[in-house]
Amino acid sequence: MRISCLAVSLTLAAVALAQDVSIHAVEKAFNAADIPTDLEIVFKPTALLEVSLPQATGRPITLHAGINVPRNDTAGPPIFHAVGDVGRGPFVVATVDPDALTPQDPTVAQIRHFLGGNFFNKGGLLVNSTPAISDFLQPTPPAGSDPHRYIFLLFKQSPQFATQTLINSSSSIEFFNISQFASAVDLGNPIAGTFMRVAPPPS
Ligand SMILES: *[C@@H]1O[C@H](CO)[C@@H](O)[C@H](O)[C@H]1NC(C)=O
Ligand SMILES: *[C@@H]1O[C@H](CO)[C@@H](O)[C@H](O)[C@H]1NC(C)=O
Ligand SMILES: *[C@@H]1O[C@H](CO)[C@@H](O)[C@H](O)[C@H]1NC(C)=O
Repeated sequence: MRISCLAVSLTLAAVALAQDVSIHAVEKAFNAADIPTDLEIVFKPTALLEVSLPQATGRPITLHAGINVPRNDTAGPPIFHAVGDVGRGPFVVATVDPDALTPQDPTVAQIRHFLGGNFFNKGGLLVNSTPAISDFLQPTPPAGSDPHRYIFLLFKQSPQFATQTLINSSSSIEFFNISQFASAVDLGNPIAGTFMRVAPPPS
């Protein structure tokens, strides 16, 4: 009895803590999901971006690249950690959905689900010192859609980011182009990332 309870809780812990541990595996998962092609980015990560979604009850869900997360568990806001030698910051984090309204018909993509800068590395935890430009928006794939990809990217912040006027908190979140934004603001290529898949809630 004791032993089986322990085995169950160890299994649950392993599931809850199944974060990305290999940069190479993350890069492979991005390629397998066509993310560099669809976002028109170069994805050669040099670190890991750990994204945790707090839960009303129980442990946060920490993503690993490609994980399926029930929509109800995605309220966030996410907590970000950098794993690896990324320096002190500042950093920019962007989250986009390239599959809106559906993966087959992404007519309003990308949706900008988060965009924030001035993240600093506090022992791995990324803490932002200014409000996000776009606060985290919970995934809401429409009924009948296949799962959408929600992609989190970490960039080293450029000086131009602080003075950019392309996107502000009242800009539409539709028709975002992370490649174009990163290029216009001189962010370079992302240094880390991960992603989840979220299906519409069962009706
Ligand atoms: C998801 O959340 C909504 C609103 O909080 C609730 O009504 C619904 O029962 C939840 N669904 C599942 C599958 O947990
Ligand atoms: C946000 O950007 C739009 C378009 O560039 C601009 O018209 C608007 O004044 C800006 N709003 C704020 C609060 O800066
Ligand atoms: C997004 O931006 C990239 C780089 O600027 C550009 O090549 C591409 O055509 C844009 N994609 C869309 C869908 O506008």
